[in-house]
Amino acid sequence: MKQFALLAVTLLMGTTCFAQTQNLPKPNLQRKTLTVMETFQQRKSIRDYSPKKLSEQDLSDLLWASMGVNRENGNLTAPTAMNRQEIRLYVFDDKGVSQYDPKAHSLTQVATGDHRDIVAGRQAFAKEAPVSLLMVGDFDKFGSKNEHAQAMVAMDAGYVSQNIDLFCAAAGLATVPRATMDVKALQELLGLNENQVPLLNNPVGYPK
Ligand SMILES: Cc1cc2nc3c(=O)[nH]c(=O)nc-3n(C[C@H](O)[C@H](O)[C@H](O)COP(=O)(O)O)c2cc1C
Repeated sequence: MKQFALLAVTLLMGTTCFAQTQNLPKPNLQRKTLTVMETFQQRKSIRDYSPKKLSEQDLSDLLWASMGVNRENGNLTAPTAMNRQEIRLYVFDDKGVSQYDPKAHSLTQVATGDHRDIVAGRQAFAKEAPVSLLMVGDFDKFGSKNEHAQAMVAMDAGYVSQNIDLFCAAAGLATVPRATMDVKALQELLGLNENQVPLLNNPVGYPK
């Protein structure tokens, strides 16, 4: 009986661990989108979202465009100062929060439950989007938190956010770059230390 209980617990733990990492479908590099010039023409902040969920392929393409690996040397679609790759990208949806792993092109769950409200902060419209992407600057990974480092890390987050903006414009999705959010609540939820700082977020959905 004791052995059976142990086996059941081991199996359950195995299932739970397995369920925490989700491999994304390969990004569709042949995806039909607007041209670069049409994309710039369409880029704008949109704050009204349909509740329609993003497909797995949409999410995969969105995350890869944001800061996926695009070369064999492991570099990303978004540049980073000194190639420190210190921006963490979190995905919030109605089921939980996951962190994007660019190398594996996968999502690892870090919290369960709907926490889009703390990304939205005082701007309620933002929690209507099916997903919110949060950019966190990891100053430990960058190697410094001096004034220069703070400017570099903020710029690097801006590049990721702009990649999100441009992918959304090209693919007919809606987004807005935002600095508004409940930073303290996010740090608590994600277990961040003082060197891991939420900098920007983008709610993403289909336009209403
Ligand atoms: C760094 C940054 C922070 C922003 N923060 C917010 C924000 O907290 N809330 C919001 O609704 N829009 C925010 N915006 C969006 C701007 O309000 C928007 O880009 C600006 O009004 C110009 O409109 P457009 O993006 O349609 O050209 C932010 C934009 C940037 C670049």
